[in-house]
This record gives sequence, C-alpha cells and structure tokens, in this order.
Amino acid sequence: MEQTKWFKNRVFYQIWPRSFKDGDGDGMGDLHGVYEKLDYIKSLGCDGIWFSPLYPSPGADCGYDIADYMDIAQEFGGMEAFKKVLDGAHQRDMKVIMDLVVNHTSDEHDWFQKSRQRIDPYTDYYIWRPAKPNGKLPNNWDSLFEGKAWTYDEVRGEYYMHLFAIKQPDLNMDNPLVREEVKKILKFWLDLGVDGFREDVITFISKAEGLPNDYIMPASKGLNLYNHGPHIHEYLTEFKRDVLDNYDCVTLAEAPMVDPKTALTYIQEGPKQEIDMMIQFQTQCADSFLSDYYPMPFSLKKLKKAFTNWQTKLDGKGWNMLYLENHDHPRIISRYGSEKFWKESGKMLAVSYLFQKGTPFIYQGQEIGMLNWRPESPDMYEDVQTIWEYKNHATNKSDEKRLKRLWRSSRDSARTLVQWDNSPNAGFTTSETPWFHVNPNYVDINVAQQEEDPDSILNFYRKAVALRKKLSCVFDGNYIEYNKNSNKLYCYSRRNGRQKILVVCSFSDKPQRFTAPKDFHTDLARLELCNYPESDPKKLKPYEARVYLWR
Ligand code: GLC
Repeated sequence: MEQTKWFKNRVFYQIWPRSFKDGDGDGMGDLHGVYEKLDYIKSLGCDGIWFSPLYPSPGADCGYDIADYMDIAQEFGGMEAFKKVLDGAHQRDMKVIMDLVVNHTSDEHDWFQKSRQRIDPYTDYYIWRPAKPNGKLPNNWDSLFEGKAWTYDEVRGEYYMHLFAIKQPDLNMDNPLVREEVKKILKFWLDLGVDGFREDVITFISKAEGLPNDYIMPASKGLNLYNHGPHIHEYLTEFKRDVLDNYDCVTLAEAPMVDPKTALTYIQEGPKQEIDMMIQFQTQCADSFLSDYYPMPFSLKKLKKAFTNWQTKLDGKGWNMLYLENHDHPRIISRYGSEKFWKESGKMLAVSYLFQKGTPFIYQGQEIGMLNWRPESPDMYEDVQTIWEYKNHATNKSDEKRLKRLWRSSRDSARTLVQWDNSPNAGFTTSETPWFHVNPNYVDINVAQQEEDPDSILNFYRKAVALRKKLSCVFDGNYIEYNKNSNKLYCYSRRNGRQKILVVCSFSDKPQRFTAPKDFHTDLARLELCNYPESDPKKLKPYEARVYLWR
C-alpha cells in the first residue's frame, strides 16, 4: 500500500515574519522571535510552518520582492538564526516550508541590475520590450499593484514587465537559464533541510506567446493571458523531474482564479502530478467580487458553495489545502463572523473549516481571533497595493468612505503585530518604535490573556486541532453537505467505515432552529466540541458551532 504523504496528516501555521515576534529588540519581527515561540506553535497542535519570505529584500512588497534567493535577511537574524529555527522545528517534529517567489524578483536583484545593462547571460532574464514608435506601451496589460504592467528603464532604454509592483520585474521563465536558476534555488533550500515550498503566484510564470493585447478582461487586463499560460505544465514538470522528485518535500501553489477542474490539471494524484496542493481564492470571495477591493455583502451560500465544491470535486483525486486567513486578506472574524460575537464567531469559523478534508493552515493571530486594523489615517498604511488603491480608486468619494474602504480591503488589516500580551506594543518588541502598528484592541485580545482562560479562542483552537487529529473520519471520510439552501447554517458530515461526525455552524447573530439531518440521531452521539457550555438540541445560539461524533 502506498504510504500516506506526510503533509496530509499535518496542520500548518503561517508566519509572516515581520509582524510575528521581535527577538532582538530592533522593532522588526525575526527568527530569534520565532525560535522563542516554537513551543507555542507546537502547543496549538501545529506540526508545520510556512514562512512568508525571509530573504534579503528592499521590502517594496514586504519581502515578496527578493534581492537574493540564497540567503536569509540580516534583519531576520541571517542564516545562522534560520538554521537554529529549522533544527528547533525538526526536533519538535515540525516541518518547515519556504516561500518560493519566482514569478518576479526585486529590481535590486543582481540579475536585474545586469540585465538592464545587457550583461550576459542576464540580458534575457526578464521580459524586455522596446518602446513602440507611437509611444504606446508594449501591450495593454495591467499590473495587479501599480498601474500598467510596463515600466520604462532608462538604463536599458526598454520597457520591462511587472505583473505586481514597479519594483518587482517579472522573470522570463521561457529562458532555460532562468529555469536553471529556479532549480538551483530549490536545491539549495532542500539540501539545507527545508521540507518544501509555497510557490507564490506560480500559475503566472508562463506568459502567452507574443504577449498579445487583452480584449476580454475589463480590469486586470492580461490575467487570462498569463494565468495558466502555455508552458506552465511543462515548467512545473521540469522543476519536479529535475529537483523536487529527488526529495521528500511538499509543494503548495498559490493560484489566483483557479477552479477545482483547473486545479486538478496540476494536483491530480498520479504520474503526471506537478504540485501537491493549491491555494485557491474561491473561499475568500464570499464577500467580494474577485478581489477584496470590490466588496460585497457576505454571502454564506457563496462560501458554502466554494467549500463544498472544493471538497467534492477534489475528492479521491487531489488534496485540499484549507485556510481562512493569510497575509493577503483582511481578518476573517471581521468579514465572515461578527466582531460583536467575537469569541463565538471566532470559534465557529475555526470549526467551519478544520473538519474538512485536506491540510489546514492557521495564519498568525487567527488562533486568538485578531480583528481588522482600522487606522485613523491613510498615511499609516504600508502595503504597496493599498497605497496605490487609495491614490487611484474611488477618489470621488469622501475621505471617510475612502478610509473605510481600506479598513475593509487592505492587506494591512491583517498584518499588524501579533498580540502577545497587554504590555506596550502588545509584547511584540522591547523597542519603542516597532516597524508597524499594533491594533489598539491588544489590551483585550492577546495570547497571555487567552492562555489563562480555558474558554478562550486560543484554547478552543487547541481543542479543535487535537480533535481533528484524533478522528480518522476527518482524515479520510467522505464529505456531505446538508441544509444547502440555508443562508444561516453550514452543516456537513464526514464519514468513514468506523465513525462519522456531523459539523454544525451557525453564521447568524440570532438563535436558529436546528434539526439534524435524517439518520443523524444526535441523542445517540457525543457532542465532542461546542463553543457554548450548554446546547439545546433543537436550537442554536448565535454563531454556535458543534461537532457530534458517532462510533
Ligand atoms: C502573492 C503573495 C503576495 C504578494 C504577491 C506578489 O499573492 O501572497 O503577498 O504581494 O504574490 O509577490
């Protein structure tokens, strides 16, 4: 029998290093801070860590603009601190995966500096195009962060493509030398002992031949011409064949706008599989249209449809990556839950996804129910995308409305310092001037307080993760959704030959009538997990969540 791949039994914790914990007192989160907190992460039941980029970077996109792929930034403690964390994690049986950002580099990367001067072999490492005689850009594509996808470089006298910020030039993956560089990077970190990669916007690395104009997309022009581009499968297969297959590692691909059918072209298990899991965005779009910057009222039906779609369409074919939060989206309680019912909805949201089939990820601060940050001034934002959005969109609206739009949409809403205790700057740093802001609610929402409280969101996460790991049906049982038409309740079962569970989640701030689906006699079940001390079999309290177990 084929052995279960190790990543399928694990729960990962995502660290966005700048805001996690400062260990050396300079105001910036770092690996010394991570080392201090390894036992904390393990205490959640997490046995894997995904690090957002730790590499040297000018920080134009908080580390997603890399200047050197084979080093660890000094501000995070350098290579020595990284090795200590890696060993410390492995000693605790925790796996470590790195962010691999190879759609683009920083413009301060040596490759780009040489490429703009046409120094070989770097001349064609990036996507350069001459200016057109009519003064037009090489094509009409948009970048996702800062206007059009082309910026003119005076040194080379040509335009370079950047699908993200101006300081993030796209690599020319069609150049075999660039693919060799990627393979060197993969090998370097795997040889050092890391356990795999989260691959940043990896579905963007192959652009349509000839870079034609886009006539379809009204906004984000070009997206359908570079997402899942013509050579994507070829390149991913090459990385796998030449490097990844030689190691026992995991790959997790970030894939904007992917649906389960397309995802399976990458992750279907079998000889042609290229990637182990995908980060899909459909479960993030239950309160927006494609991006957080086009907010819509939260629709539970949309969320349930996305959950169920991924659960059922991948079943038996590919493995799901499960998440509610990461560094690219505002906090989930503020969006899908309720700040008024903070504790109840925080716990309910945990239940909603932790019992699905797949490998769950928990983003730093999610486990204590951190909420969206709402600064009083737009100048307080740091994120390149937020700054661009503020300057260029909805400018006809009042200042107040524009600021509220940022509260609702900005990635910085979820990038504030992790709230460790109620001392100044939430115990994140001993420095008086941390690199970024702390949410003023840290006085009430922090790890130290929740450690003391058996009823806290933090301790609930621990219970939920422990229960998930104990139940074989969560690992391999089938998934069936009930009450599909309800816009208040999300209800699903997981069942294998030995046991079954029923998961019930109320997304309502009012009590709701509840009848278990046929064949689920709750009086014969054990209520294994609930976010209220008492529960009425026929009625759910606001944001109540339950997990019933039958053996
Ligand atoms: C991914 C990252 C995001 C980054 C972008 C460009 O979406 O998650 O944080 O800004 O890629 O690298």
